Amino acid sequence: MKVLVIGSGAREHALCRSLSLDPAVTALHCAPGNAGIAEVAEPHQVDALDGAAVSALAMKLGADLVVVGPEAPLVAGVADAVREAGIPVFGPSKEAARLEGSKAFAKDVMAAAGVPTARSYVCTTAEEVAAALDAFGAPYVVKDDGLAAGKGVVVTGDADAARAHAAVCERVVIEEYLDGPEVSLFAVTDGETVVPLQPAQDFKRALDNDEGPNTGGMGAYSPLPWADPELVDEVLRTVLQPTVDEMRRRGTPFSGLLYAGLAITGRGVRVIEFNARFGDPETQVVLARLRTPLAGVLMAAATGALAHLEPLRWSDDAAVTVVVASQNYPGTPRTGDPITGLEEVAEQDAPHAYVLHAGTRRDGDTVLSAGGRVLSVTATGKDLTEARDRAYTAVSRIRLEGSQHRSDIAASAAAKA
Ligand code: AMP
Ligand code: GLY
Repeated sequence: MKVLVIGSGAREHALCRSLSLDPAVTALHCAPGNAGIAEVAEPHQVDALDGAAVSALAMKLGADLVVVGPEAPLVAGVADAVREAGIPVFGPSKEAARLEGSKAFAKDVMAAAGVPTARSYVCTTAEEVAAALDAFGAPYVVKDDGLAAGKGVVVTGDADAARAHAAVCERVVIEEYLDGPEVSLFAVTDGETVVPLQPAQDFKRALDNDEGPNTGGMGAYSPLPWADPELVDEVLRTVLQPTVDEMRRRGTPFSGLLYAGLAITGRGVRVIEFNARFGDPETQVVLARLRTPLAGVLMAAATGALAHLEPLRWSDDAAVTVVVASQNYPGTPRTGDPITGLEEVAEQDAPHAYVLHAGTRRDGDTVLSAGGRVLSVTATGKDLTEARDRAYTAVSRIRLEGSQHRSDIAASAAAKA
């Protein structure tokens, strides 16, 4: 099977790494990729948002399967263009990707499907915003309706800050604050059959102890030793399957990866958000534990054959990933600095720990930082404590001027396990 992966983050590096280990994959291509992905997949230049360009590249390469990693190309309709060219694609249509692309649309689908989520108002004027903030009270949750790379949400006790965020967005969703630990649960679906993966937890805030601004995600771990063993079945029954059924009923079936961001509240599980693609950095830890070869799973979703897939097999190992970010992330990140220590990790920590690249590029023999999140240092171990130790040992070998990482990824879960 010849596979083309679209994207350039650590999630795509994780996907490419797993695909490169799958004996069914005979050729692996990535566009545009990054310095790390280029070590496991042949890189190609393409405008990932241009459906015609992506499908032309897939045709030229004779790809049997195209995997679209990030949300922006999905929301732009890249999967539709590839599908129209007759090539199986893992990723939802433009219409179905609205589950992620519009928070108001996602709320509408959840209401129709009876999926538990925060009560909310969609607001376009200052008066509506004021009324909604008043109705729920502090802490205030104000979400830009459109795509914002995980940075469009403000959760604050300060009513002025809540109003200020709403004022710079065209349309906002204001909703009830959900109290409780967050879980990311991914499911692979062909529009009908839904196959959940293992749950993970992400760390959204920039700084230790969940302080600082929201980011795209600073680290993750799986499994969740503290979670109810019934959680996956419950979310499949109450969230994932009803949502997939409702999308099909609307004539816009959702195929690809349905990501449920959940809060485990005192009153039960609530959906915080849906995403239409693999989460980053959770994918790094989920795929580290998946034993079933990945290409066949993605192909089954792309071709409507998930009902015939063997149950997924999982490692009992734990996995932890720690994101190394540029100075000033999530603001305007500093880029163009050399990264050292990558060979030391490969020589001393592999195979249990390895570096997945996000914002990197190669300049001759040097790997340079090229984005906000630069690396996702991933490790496995018999439990979270061992996986954590290995991940942080590898992080300590890496040098990047001004870089930052959280030191508490998976710490409390490891201590409780
Ligand atoms: P989202 O982009 O919707 O995932 O929101 C980013 C982050 O904001 C989430 O991971 C939560 O930490 C937080 N958040 C979003 N919605 C709520 C809510 N209703 N209550 C509490 N926290 C929330
Ligand atoms: N880890 C959060 C996201 O991928 O949106």
